[in-house]
Amino acid sequence: MAEKRLGGGKTGYVIAPSILSADFSKLGECVKQIKEAEYIHVDVMDGAFVPNISFGAGVMGSIRSCSKQIFDVHMMVEEPGRYLADFAKAGADILCVHAEACRHLDRTLEQIHELGCRAAVALNPATSLENIRWVLNKVDMVLIMSVNPGFGGQQFIPGMLEKISQLYDMLETMGLQGKVDIEVDGGVKLSNVSSVIEAGANIIVAGSAVYQGTPQENVKRFHQVFEEYCN
Ligand code: DX5
Ligand code: ZN
Repeated sequence: MAEKRLGGGKTGYVIAPSILSADFSKLGECVKQIKEAEYIHVDVMDGAFVPNISFGAGVMGSIRSCSKQIFDVHMMVEEPGRYLADFAKAGADILCVHAEACRHLDRTLEQIHELGCRAAVALNPATSLENIRWVLNKVDMVLIMSVNPGFGGQQFIPGMLEKISQLYDMLETMGLQGKVDIEVDGGVKLSNVSSVIEAGANIIVAGSAVYQGTPQENVKRFHQVFEEYCN
């Protein structure tokens, strides 16, 4: 990639381990293993928007007490507005909804702010950035999916690097650069995270790349990569 789009976002570089790749029989322990990570990425799946079911607000609430970190809740749910209050009550900090799953996306994003949470919007790989242009001034973060949502451990779709860069440029043109974070989710590993950062992302979700092996060490390695971009 010719041009590097660095320094994006408002919160700096963040690692957000996805607990979808954790051992569910000891979820609390798995959350404690990643306490050096800034965010905890919580993948909520309803079996309708995506072909998989994970967990709901009850389970999330029970692990909330294991961590003081920011809970970044990725709602892969049809019409997530029906459940946002439950997740806010259970301790969500960021509520991220899919543009494809909301009939009235603008209203749903306002609902999130009214609940006192940060609002984020996610896009599936096939969805155009144009679908969110008119709500970009209402979000704290955009999540670019770099796999089709539903499962951990999939391969990063290379074309998504160009999409991340186009989002960065769109934010810059709209005067929103530095006000909106760009999160990337799916297939991000230590081997490709640099290209994701150089495309313009500043929040990195990693499931299998954190939980395969030693989670503490893996979080540290992602932080070491971030340091290279902080000087
Ligand atoms: C996929 C989820 C991701 C996933 C990431 O639908 O949204 O958060 O768990 O896992 P890896 O990093 O293994 O692709
Ligand atoms: Zn996710």
